Amino acid sequence: MRYLTAGESHGEALIAIIEGLPSNLFIDAEFINKELERRQKGYGRGGRMAIEKDEIHIISGVRDGKTTGAPLAMEIKNRDYKNWKDKKVPPVTRPRPGHADLPGSIKYNQRDIRNILERASARETAARVAVGSVAKLLLKELNISLKSRVLEIGGAKREEKWKRLIEKAKKEGDTLGGIIEIVIEGVPVGLGSHAQWDRKLDALLAYHVMSVQGIKGVEFGLGFEGARLPGSLVHDDIYYKENEGFYRKTNNAGGIEGGMSNGNPIVIRAAMKPIPTLLRPLDSVDIATKEETKAIYERSDVTAVEAAACVLEAVCAWVIADECLKKFGGDSVEELKRNYDTYLAYVRSF
Ligand SMILES: Cc1cc2nc3c(=O)[nH]c(=O)nc-3n(C[C@H](O)[C@H](O)[C@H](O)COP(=O)(O)O)c2cc1C
Repeated sequence: MRYLTAGESHGEALIAIIEGLPSNLFIDAEFINKELERRQKGYGRGGRMAIEKDEIHIISGVRDGKTTGAPLAMEIKNRDYKNWKDKKVPPVTRPRPGHADLPGSIKYNQRDIRNILERASARETAARVAVGSVAKLLLKELNISLKSRVLEIGGAKREEKWKRLIEKAKKEGDTLGGIIEIVIEGVPVGLGSHAQWDRKLDALLAYHVMSVQGIKGVEFGLGFEGARLPGSLVHDDIYYKENEGFYRKTNNAGGIEGGMSNGNPIVIRAAMKPIPTLLRPLDSVDIATKEETKAIYERSDVTAVEAAACVLEAVCAWVIADECLKKFGGDSVEELKRNYDTYLAYVRSF
């Protein structure tokens, strides 16, 4: 499968096109809308989220609620568009450190940074959540599920501290990042491959996780902690039981060995940097006058770690769904499930 997104933060709408979906997949719009709503929530979000109430509009590829095998096109309208479409806004010339503003303006020869920031904005992640929701619907057919949780915000591990830290950052015109964990359950052994670098499952997941705005680090299982421990404490011993097959007592590998899923839950953690738009702006230089100044402030979140967790689930769901289709094939959901069941029976008999 493949997908593309289009759309700007204050443009008319966000668009996503998915190609390669099997037919007869029930597209549950209510489920997609619930996922879109999850992305909009979380403590520390800015004023934009009070304006937008994202809702999916299916444009093509679905008939009687089910996919036909044709490309699926989806649209999410930007409710804020009506406030912007006729507004005359001066060019943005003071780039924000940590954003696409300066490198993007130089690269694309734009003297109004808005032509860069509108597309670089994480508003685009609404389209990715829609795509990921469709991937989740496909995975549901194979009994594969994903969940996520926030592990840290602003360096604090205890949830009781988060609200206070976010309030403090808000008061000080500052922002916060955090750490998110994604767990994927029910993944069969054998997705991905050891045989070629670009087919490794951990590499593919890392690529998609890193593509999310603001994500600066990714680890699997013990991750960086494993680098500090001896092998005897890191690798998951292998055992066998007559009726259960091969199993492990630990999952330090995070469900992936040699670029392949090993049948254990896949455990991924991602580090999100603090939001780069600060109410107390950072030092910058005006690209028109070259004078030292402060960066612009666009209405913005103080932190978006909870929202990012939802986006990360979506991109991971996409990778696993795509790998399932690659491995098991099938032009309809029925064919995919038949192939899947045959494979699971083979694994049980190995
Ligand atoms: C769900 C989500 C919401 C975000 N909200 C904001 C925001 O309101 N303001 C902002 O400056 N950055 C926000 N970001 C982060 C920026 O989009 C991101 O740091 C920027 O695009 C630079 O990308 P990079 O960090 O990957 O280089 C958000 C990110 C995500 C995932």
